[in-house]
Amino acid sequence: MSEPLTTKQAIHHIKPSELESFVHRILVGNGVTEKHASTVADCLVQADLRGVDTHGSNRIPSYMQRIRQKVLDPSASPELQEITPVAALVDGKNAFGFVSAHLAMQKAIKMAEVFGLGLVSVKNSNHFGMSAWLVQQAIDAGMMSLVFTNSSPALPVWGGKSKLMGVSPIACGAPAGNERPFILDMAPSVAARGKIYKALRRGEKIPTDWALDSEGNMTDDPAKALEGVMLPMGGPKGSALAIMMDVFSGVFSGSAFAGNVTGPYDPSKPADVGHFLMAIKPDLFVSLDDFKDRMDYLYQRVVGSDKMGGVDRIYYPGEIEQITREKRLLEGIPFTELEIESLNKEAELVGVEKLQYGV
Ligand SMILES: NC(=O)c1ccc[n+]([C@@H]2O[C@H](COP(=O)([O-])OP(=O)(O)OC[C@H]3O[C@@H](n4cnc5c(N)ncnc54)[C@H](O)[C@@H]3O)[C@@H](O)[C@H]2O)c1
Repeated sequence: MSEPLTTKQAIHHIKPSELESFVHRILVGNGVTEKHASTVADCLVQADLRGVDTHGSNRIPSYMQRIRQKVLDPSASPELQEITPVAALVDGKNAFGFVSAHLAMQKAIKMAEVFGLGLVSVKNSNHFGMSAWLVQQAIDAGMMSLVFTNSSPALPVWGGKSKLMGVSPIACGAPAGNERPFILDMAPSVAARGKIYKALRRGEKIPTDWALDSEGNMTDDPAKALEGVMLPMGGPKGSALAIMMDVFSGVFSGSAFAGNVTGPYDPSKPADVGHFLMAIKPDLFVSLDDFKDRMDYLYQRVVGSDKMGGVDRIYYPGEIEQITREKRLLEGIPFTELEIESLNKEAELVGVEKLQYGV
C-alpha cells in the first residue's frame, strides 16, 4: 500500500548551515567550482531564509537538469569588460546567473564607491533566482541599487493572448539607519510563476486570478496554469513593467529579448538571460547621516500610517521577508518530505551525502 500523501507533505525544519553545505555538495558534484558553488548555495539559502521558497533550494533539480542537458555550463567563468569608468559589461559565458550577477553587483559597487554610481549589464546569463539577494549585496556595502532581469515568456502583453514577456522581477533597495532597509522585489504578474510550481509540488490549488489555462480560462489547477499564461498585475501597467525589464536587461545587454529567452524546461539551447544592475552611493546629494535619518523617518511614517479596517500591522517593502529570515535563522527552514526526497535524488545522482531530516 502506498504511503498517504499527508506523510509526504509533513514539514521538516532544516538548519540553514546544513542546507547550504548540502546544496554546495550537489553543485560541486555537478562540476561547479567550489567558489561558484558557495555563491549559488548562499543565494538559494538566502531565498529559503526570506520565505521566497519558490526561488530557493527547491530549484536545484531543475538547475541540475540544465547542466545534464548541457545547456548551462557549470564550470564557466563570466568575463568582465570595463566600458567607461561607470559602466561595465559581464559576459556570463552561460554560467549560473547567480555567479554573473554577483560579479556584476560587486563591480557596480566598486564603481559607485569612486564615481557615485556604477552600472553593469550582463549578457549570456541564466536565471538568478530571487532578486532581493543582489539588493541585499548592495545594502551590505551601504549602497542603493536597481536590479532588473528578463526571463522566458510566461506573460501575454496587454491585449495579447500568447506568452511573450517574462515574469521578470523588478527590484531596488536602499539602506537605512536604525530602521529596516527598503527592499522592493516583485514580479510584474499577479503572482510569480515559481508560486505555481510550488503549488504543483505540494499538490495545492492556486487562486483563480493568477493565470489562465491553455484555452484562456481561469483555473485553480497549477498544472493547467503552467500550460497557459500568467496574468500581469494591474493590467497594462504590469505588462509595461515586463517590457521595461526586457528593454533594460535584454535589448541593452545584447542578450536574448522579445520572447527569445529560453524557458527553464526547454533543453534545446542555453537561456541567454540578460540582467541590469546599478549601485548608487546614497550620499550624493545629502550627507550620509542625513540620508539614513531620512530613510528612518520614511520607514516610521509608512509603518505608523493609519490602518484600514482589518489590518493589524503595516509592513515596509521587504519587511515580511526580513522577519521570516529572523524566524527561520532560529527555527530552521521548512521543507515537505516530498521536496526533501526530490533534493536527495540529486544527491544520489552524484553520490554525495544526503540531507538528513526527521532525526
Ligand atoms: N529571476 C527571475 O526570473 C524571477 C522571476 C519571477 C520572480 N522572481 C522572484 O520571485 C520572488 C517573488 O516575487 P513576487 O512578485 O511573488 O513577490 P511578492 O508578491 O511576495 O512580494 C512583492 C513585494 O511586495 C512586498 N510585500 C508583500 N506583501 C506585503 C505586505 N503585506 N505589505 C507590504 N509589502 C508587502 C514584498 O516585501 C516584496 O517587496 C521575488 O524574489 C522575485 O525576485 C524571480
